[in-house]
Amino acid sequence: MTASGPDNAGGSPLTLLTTLRSAIAKLLTPRVLFVSSVLTGIATWLMLLIGGTVNPTGSSLACADWSFKWGMATTAVALPVIGLGIAIFLLSKTKRNLGIALGGLGVALVAVDFIPVCNGDPFPAMTGGVLYEHGHRLWGWLVGVLTTLTLLGSWAAPNVASGTRWMALAAFLLVIAQGALGGLTVLLGLNPYLSTAHLVVGYGFLALMIVLSWRLAPSRRAEPTRGARFPRGLLLFAALLTLAQILLGGIIRHFGAGMICGTDPIGCGGQGLWPEMALQQLHMLHRFLGYAVLVVVAYASVKARRDAAAAGRPHIAMLAWVPLVLVTAQVALGLVTVVSGKIVWVVTLHTAIGGLLLGVLTAVWVGFGPLGERRGQTSSRPSASSPPPTGHEVVV
Ligand code: HEM
Repeated sequence: MTASGPDNAGGSPLTLLTTLRSAIAKLLTPRVLFVSSVLTGIATWLMLLIGGTVNPTGSSLACADWSFKWGMATTAVALPVIGLGIAIFLLSKTKRNLGIALGGLGVALVAVDFIPVCNGDPFPAMTGGVLYEHGHRLWGWLVGVLTTLTLLGSWAAPNVASGTRWMALAAFLLVIAQGALGGLTVLLGLNPYLSTAHLVVGYGFLALMIVLSWRLAPSRRAEPTRGARFPRGLLLFAALLTLAQILLGGIIRHFGAGMICGTDPIGCGGQGLWPEMALQQLHMLHRFLGYAVLVVVAYASVKARRDAAAAGRPHIAMLAWVPLVLVTAQVALGLVTVVSGKIVWVVTLHTAIGGLLLGVLTAVWVGFGPLGERRGQTSSRPSASSPPPTGHEVVV
């Protein structure tokens, strides 16, 4: 899709909309959009790290409420400001920057409405459990704002594939759902099902942001190639197995089974490898599945590295090593969590490295597809049906 130039201004509403889009596109270059989605991904991973401290420090209910300080008050002010900005932009050719500035101010005011509070205060003294719980809420707000910017950018900018736009919308809806799940978790007194869902959606969101960032990368080719296809299925399997393991980890944490087998690193506190109680069995299942994930990820890493090198994708070949390192660290951290009786920083790293593992597996998986090849780079086995790159499209 291409945007018309500013010369088209002043015609039908459709032409005006196209003009608005083309002006926004000047601000939102493909690089800006890409950086915004990458920042969202990084902020999401940091969110896992920060959020991972809440439960082990016993801070989950340090803020007993869940609401937004200003209700819809600033949004009520923001909507006319946004409207005024759009009107100035469309009607005046000389004051377009003022229109864009007013539109931006309006969007910022809407964001202010959604700053979370802790016990009625958006900026409480950040001490004790409030530091962890409210810090994680404020960081979540930042992730929400960045996701919203990525959504607005990918819909406003031209040359963004429609699949990518819908994916940005899905990310936006997911971040809202994640906030709502977090709020409900608190309001329903840490319901373990909701807490587990909150955990898994957070990891899923990270994986989605990684795929979205690849799609928004300005240097990627549009056309699929047949090279380096094989390990994709294996990598997807490894990523899904990791996600299942994350789900199991969430269940054992939120159902209070983290230390149900004591500090025994091999069996379940003298009851062997398969104890009687269901929760103990779930705990042991998390350990066994962890070892299975180690084997599958290690195999996928080695295979992906070899195939990526053969297909002329040296960057992906290098990246393919990372899951192997991460999964080894993750299993070690799991064992230290048990043996140490759940030291806070160890279990927090276990939460965060789990996210990094899923994220990097997703990145390697995407890197093996058509998006893994830079524009202008030729695969060792290019597809005969591939059209030549046009030089400006953002890939599907
Ligand atoms: C690759 C494998 C693994 C992944 C991806 C993984 C992931 C996770 C996740 C996401 C959680 C929930 C943390 C949270 O709610 O913030 C968790 C909890 C836990 N994991 Fe793992 N884990 C793995 C392997 C292991 C292994 C091998 C062990 C032990 C031998 C282990 C021990 C634990 C324990 C004890 C908890 C509960 C912590 C708590 O109650 O706070 N994990 N794991």
